[in-house]
Amino acid sequence: MGKTIIISNRLPVQLQIDQGEITAIPSVGGLATGMKSVHSGGDSLWIGWSGLTDEEIPDELVSKIDKALAEHGSSQVNLTEDEIDGYYYGFSNRTVWPLFHYFMEYTEFEQEFWDAYKAVNRKFADAILAEAEDDDTIWVHDYQLMLVPQMVREEKPDISIGFFLHIPFPSYEIFRTIPWREELLEGLLGSDLIGFHTYDYERHFLSSVRRLLGLEVSFNDISLDHRIIKVDSFPMGIDYKKFSEAAKKNEESSEKGKSELQKRLDTHKKADPEAKFFLSIDRLDYSKGIAKRIYAFEYFLNKYPEYKEKVRLIVLAVPSRSNVPQYQLLKREVDELVGRINGEFSTVSWTPIWYFYRSMPFENLIDLYTSSDIAWLTPLRDGMNLVAKEYIATRTDQTGVLILSEMAGSANEMNESLLINPNNFEQIADALHTAINMPVEEQQERNAPMQKRLERYNVEKWANDFMNSLVDQKRKDYSHIAR
Ligand code: ADP
Ligand code: G6P
Repeated sequence: MGKTIIISNRLPVQLQIDQGEITAIPSVGGLATGMKSVHSGGDSLWIGWSGLTDEEIPDELVSKIDKALAEHGSSQVNLTEDEIDGYYYGFSNRTVWPLFHYFMEYTEFEQEFWDAYKAVNRKFADAILAEAEDDDTIWVHDYQLMLVPQMVREEKPDISIGFFLHIPFPSYEIFRTIPWREELLEGLLGSDLIGFHTYDYERHFLSSVRRLLGLEVSFNDISLDHRIIKVDSFPMGIDYKKFSEAAKKNEESSEKGKSELQKRLDTHKKADPEAKFFLSIDRLDYSKGIAKRIYAFEYFLNKYPEYKEKVRLIVLAVPSRSNVPQYQLLKREVDELVGRINGEFSTVSWTPIWYFYRSMPFENLIDLYTSSDIAWLTPLRDGMNLVAKEYIATRTDQTGVLILSEMAGSANEMNESLLINPNNFEQIADALHTAINMPVEEQQERNAPMQKRLERYNVEKWANDFMNSLVDQKRKDYSHIAR
């Protein structure tokens, strides 16, 4: 068996150039954080975009950049500013992302975006073809690269190709609105195995294949051109050990290295051990329901005024896709909302919302998880949501309460958390009340089974299950052809 080639838009690190020096910063987002653990343990090559456009890379730094990426087992696909505008900020994040998350009103159908998407997918396919031997396994990731499987298949008909979608696949009624819907499906069907986080996304996909392409679907196998393509769900896990061990280590760590936010939190907790912190962490993305969460917090303070001065909401939002207008609007909305609510409710000694617009180093993230009594995540739609899993994994003494939107893929596996509908403020306010008052024994009873599950169904198992299923599928497909 040959090597594994991982392909995704984001590499495990993003490169930045500062005064001629190259720095690599870890990429944020479920795909990168999850796959990083898989990649670091194995013999794989990761092909993707470095985060820098051709125009930003001076000629004299080209080889240095290749070297920096090679240290992370990665190699880059060079993209121009125009390509990034059309393919990444355009089709990927102004067409597919909003549509697949059911934000029809944010979705733009632009021929120019589609053309750029096709051209850049071709570049990724060519980068794979330049590296791939016939016995290699190609693992393509996510919505930015849905045409790649078919493009590779055309050149290498027998190679093993898996595709995993990290975001929801929408219902047929939504998907059918895309002008290029058939091409997208055909692109994906170049794979031998197509994986989704949940059974529902899988079902939606199969329904679109059946209704738009008229293909024969038997259970979860699709027949096409003498090939059988398998479709299945593989809920992505986290590197459980990494999170739980980091949490244990952090318990012993000193003040040094703590973030300013952490120091402030620790000081408040010392002064008032009864004070409760609601932690929310996400990329600043409309699918995460950040604005709704802040409105719901206001609703809670009005419904349960006795908690004024006793609770605080931490909003840690990572800058994301800031060239896309909807993200700029959201940033403005959240800024204003936080300003208004803090202005209205704050007292001399109490600021209800602590808002931070930045990314955090891993250790600081762990500090926050371990010192927050309540994690509160309200996506309106989310393929999986790994933050929910990471929070539970870091609760070494099994205390802590997770309030999670039922619209997150991870809700299927986190039944013991307080599941809420992010649009139901009444229910959310009551869940916050329940969380604040939940006895420690109940917290532990709820968290213990979730931890067990997360430990067992970790990211390594997820990747192995996917890879084993791909090998099986290829074997079955060969025997099918032989018949
Ligand atoms: P998405 O993939 O949509 O961003 P997930 O919850 O699945 O959502 O994954 C987010 C990942 O990014 C998690 O692994 C989380 O630890 C990381 N992350 C989120 N917010 C921050 C932050 N402020 N600083 C650093 N990492 C973050
Ligand atoms: C989600 C997507 C990933 C993406 C990540 C961060 O997790 O599924 O493909 O990498 O968000 O978004 P970005 O646009 O910064 O890569």
